[in-house]
Amino acid sequence: MTLYPKLIIDALATVRYPGTGKNLVEAEMIADNIRIDGMKVSFSLIFEKPTDPFMKSILKAVEAAIHAYVSPEVEVTIATESRQAARPEPGKLLPQVKNIIAVSSGKGGVGKSTVAANLAVALAKQGYKVGLLDADIFGPSVPKMFQVEDARPYAEQIDGRDLIVPVEKYGLKLLSIGFFVDPDQATLWRGGMASNALKQLIADADWGELDYFILDTPPGTSDIHLTLVQTLGITGAVIVSTPQEVALADARKGINMYTNDKVNVPILGLVENMAWFTPAELPENKYYLFGKEGVKRLSEEMNVPLLGQIPIVQSICEGGDNGAPVALNENTITGRAFEELAANVVEQVDIRNKELAPTRIVEVHK
Ligand SMILES: Nc1ncnc2c1ncn2[C@@H]1O[C@H](COP(=O)(O)OP(=O)(O)OP(=O)(O)O)[C@@H](O)[C@H]1O
Ligand SMILES: [Mg+2]
Repeated sequence: MTLYPKLIIDALATVRYPGTGKNLVEAEMIADNIRIDGMKVSFSLIFEKPTDPFMKSILKAVEAAIHAYVSPEVEVTIATESRQAARPEPGKLLPQVKNIIAVSSGKGGVGKSTVAANLAVALAKQGYKVGLLDADIFGPSVPKMFQVEDARPYAEQIDGRDLIVPVEKYGLKLLSIGFFVDPDQATLWRGGMASNALKQLIADADWGELDYFILDTPPGTSDIHLTLVQTLGITGAVIVSTPQEVALADARKGINMYTNDKVNVPILGLVENMAWFTPAELPENKYYLFGKEGVKRLSEEMNVPLLGQIPIVQSICEGGDNGAPVALNENTITGRAFEELAANVVEQVDIRNKELAPTRIVEVHK
């Protein structure tokens, strides 16, 4: 038998691309380079992305179709191409981002998201280019804290890749898994899916040029943290704690997670959240509901700076609920507290960048 290109193309037309249901010919996935040499045939298939999930199964199906419809004797060689450029390697991502700051704590509910959001707003108000990534895949808070629950970011072709365009609010760029899936759905995901989604929010988004990229992390020391340190060279971590003992014990764990010699992310400092309660009608009075200056003592003990003390104030909680972080208004006690925090973070980042080499990503050993 003599092979000719039409025979091969007809066989390929019997294979459907599962993503769209179109056959490979209709989907224009066959490059014009079909080469035939006796019973040997070679050609390329064009996929949209270099990471196409159906690539392996399509290659198998194509070979099987040629053997079934043409002849089992045909020796098939298939190359793959993609319309889109490949995602850069971890460690080479986001070259235009100067500083990456992870906001963390050991314990849940101590105010990481509140601090991350207000720190981001305060930095943007000082004229820096700022991005805020909600890395809490299982419990996103950014959509609500910025009242952008209905935002549905679109993708744009940039440098040959489809990149998600972050949502802009108050001069910051925001992304959260909450923009893409129902939060109840994400809670059912396995670790691998959550980690892939997080990588996409980082690597497949148009973050552009940023002075500070703030990461709001989930509570505890989870796989998500591991994904973050494997994907990004984090400039430094800001650890949030409340002053009570249980929170301080967890803050120590949070610090150790970053400073252990496999991870090596420097600690920029601690934030004492819910440091005291001040009633609006008695502004001079401070009530130390969770104990006095526990985080300050921890900072002295661990020899890391205390970046700020944030009181318990109803407006902080309300600001989080109604999409207007208190840091927007610097003429309030809380606004000033976050302004000072932002200034201290800038200072500590500068010191860190002078004294230490850039953080390396944690290598994944397979
Ligand atoms: N200083 C504060 N004064 C008043 N309310 C606060 C303060 N800090 C945080 N809150 C409120 O406490 C709650 C928990 O805060 P937040 O969501 O920031 O914590 P978290 O550490 O991110 O929690 P999680 O571990 O679930 O991610 C929120 O309702 C928030 O508005
Ligand atoms: Mg949170």
